[in-house]
Amino acid sequence: MKTIAVLTSGGDAPGMNAAIRAVVRAGLDKGLKVMGIQRGYSGLLSGEIFPMDRHSVADIIQRGGTMLRTARCEEFKTEAGRKKGANILKTFGIDGLVVIGGDGSFHGAQLLSKLGIATVGLPGTIDNDLPYTDYTIGFDTAVNTVLDAINKLRDTSTSHERVSIVEVMGRNCGDIALYAGLAGGAESIIVPEKGYNQDELCRTILEGKLRGKMHNLVILAEGIGGADQLAEKVEEITGIEARATKLGHIQRGGSPTCADRVLASRMGFKAVELLSEGKSSRVVGVIDGKIEDMDIDEALAIPRNFDEKLYDIAKILSY
Ligand code: ADP
Ligand code: F6P
Repeated sequence: MKTIAVLTSGGDAPGMNAAIRAVVRAGLDKGLKVMGIQRGYSGLLSGEIFPMDRHSVADIIQRGGTMLRTARCEEFKTEAGRKKGANILKTFGIDGLVVIGGDGSFHGAQLLSKLGIATVGLPGTIDNDLPYTDYTIGFDTAVNTVLDAINKLRDTSTSHERVSIVEVMGRNCGDIALYAGLAGGAESIIVPEKGYNQDELCRTILEGKLRGKMHNLVILAEGIGGADQLAEKVEEITGIEARATKLGHIQRGGSPTCADRVLASRMGFKAVELLSEGKSSRVVGVIDGKIEDMDIDEALAIPRNFDEKLYDIAKILSY
């Protein structure tokens, strides 16, 4: 292994920059040449590849987004596209590639490894939807962003004694809703893993009001969606004013938290270790606080495991 490259792919996530910095500096420390690839697999196919030095990743650990930029690339899903990508990497003398992204990006990395390029994936997504790892890079920051919004919404909901329905991101994964809902003291958390019953939700809201609750906070995961319609329905059934807020892409931005910076740094470092040991088709994760690696196929085959216990705790504590 003489030259490695790094790219970010799929949706950006806070902490991706910290991971890029770790890959570049750990790589240089090992005497490797390190290249950056812009705009994910799309930039790979158009040869947007440049050498990186220690200075090129200065002043980025605290920044959200990704300095390499990111993209989605349909061409890379084709065999011809991936062959073109592998050839371009070989042309640049790149033997190893670190892919920072979600499961789609990992599929791409796994297929690329079959074409002779050693690949390691780092979980970069706010969704926390990769079951092989306890946490993904960006999740903690996104949850804290949601929490900040919830705190503000609580002020205005309490003043008006309203119901506030907050729709959060996460694709089909309810983790952002669950963690932010628990930490924000939400009265109800609606996630795709559990579904919900409209009558039961309205009963909970009315009972809360009778017990003296000044507001009612409902966190709704985008995997269920429909915040506006739900607010209308709740208002109609309970007679209590309800407002919907969709937090949207605000959740993807902002300076990464300490937890995300540390996680990204540890994972980036591990990715370089794996490549220098000649490993390929691996993903890095954190399991019970330890940084571990696993075969990409094995990791992607692990079924989603929703934290039922945490969900129950949130329900009991919000009563
Ligand atoms: P994420 O990595 O966050 O899950 P996407 O699912 O959008 O995001 O995937 C990012 C990119 O990874 C896609 O635009 C495509 O270039 C590549 N990719 C996704 N799925 C595959 C696949 N099955 N085979 C090859 N490449 C893929
Ligand atoms: O995967 C991250 C994520 O922000 C999801 O939570 C959301 O469903 C999706 O990406 C939004 O994608 P886009 O940026 O293409 O609107």
